[in-house]
Amino acid sequence: MTSTATPRIFVTGATGQLGRKVIEALLQRVPAEQVVAGVRDVAKGADLAAKGVELRVADYDQPVTLAAAFAGIDRLLLISGNAVGQRARQHQAVIDAAKAAGVKLIAYTSVLRADISQLGLAVEHKATENTLAASGVPYVLLRNGWYLENFAGRALGGLATGEIPTCAGDGRYAAATRADFAAATAIVLTSADGYEGRKLELAGSTAFTIADLAALTSRLAGRPVVARNLTIAEFEAALMKNGLPDFVAKILANSDTSAAQGWLFDDSRTLESLLGRPTNALESVVAPAVAAALAAKKEV
Ligand SMILES: NC(=O)c1ccc[n+]([C@@H]2O[C@H](COP(=O)([O-])OP(=O)(O)OC[C@H]3O[C@@H](n4cnc5c(N)ncnc54)[C@H](OP(=O)(O)O)[C@@H]3O)[C@@H](O)[C@H]2O)c1
Repeated sequence: MTSTATPRIFVTGATGQLGRKVIEALLQRVPAEQVVAGVRDVAKGADLAAKGVELRVADYDQPVTLAAAFAGIDRLLLISGNAVGQRARQHQAVIDAAKAAGVKLIAYTSVLRADISQLGLAVEHKATENTLAASGVPYVLLRNGWYLENFAGRALGGLATGEIPTCAGDGRYAAATRADFAAATAIVLTSADGYEGRKLELAGSTAFTIADLAALTSRLAGRPVVARNLTIAEFEAALMKNGLPDFVAKILANSDTSAAQGWLFDDSRTLESLLGRPTNALESVVAPAVAAALAAKKEV
């Protein structure tokens, strides 16, 4: 447990979509002097610097930057990278550098039940969780469910074609917005003990199926939109036909299959209890996306 009354908190991936929201949420809780943003490109973080946040270069692929970046840091949020296949090695480099720098707590954005999940993307998260456990550095696992924002694109596809293809069947997604995950992350990072040793399964207060997403899209747009259940192979083929690279189609099909098996569902309400309120619902993300798409069509 950190003994520092005002810990310096470092956020990796601070110029990413989640990272920016975590910085925003931290600034609502602690002075900017306590927050350090890890970036690859300093220019991309100019808006964060303008808020008084110190920028330090921290590239998972360049350990020398990590050693310098973590000097004097008490708590580190390691936001999982987006280079699928490289992440176990990258995260190991971050954890090694944090340990060498004397970081007192590492929080890691993992995935729901990473230790047992059959989700393909969970493999690298599990590896990182094991690296953390072996490191001896105190840590907390933020096992995030899916982002609600992932479903806006699927709703818009349904708007265009009248169908949302899926191989998730009746599988339920307990998703939450990046902003809700970020707010909870800031609460953890600024708490007295940093939730040291906890494995927090973080998910939306309400869950939905792709059929529910289709029904919501249909209601919002005032026209029929239905879920179209496909086999895994059919779904992969449909995604590739829409121009997605092979490996992305495979990841998305695997995610839907994992949802069908329940790996993207959680009803622990841990996220809700951290926030002290229910998480934002699917409609909060889909309604503005559908409204913008319908308005853009009217303008043409
Ligand atoms: N729960 C979900 O539904 C879901 C969905 C997608 C992804 N994820 C995971 O959650 C993470 C955060 O989500 P997000 O929406 O914020 O993703 P994002 O917008 O793609 O941000 C990823 C961040 O990782 C940084 N990064 C990538 N490679 C790096 C490296 N070698 N060294 C240092 N930083 C590096 C990026 O830096 P730059 O700003 O310099 O590009 C960016 O800031 C993702 O990276 C992924 O692991 C979760």
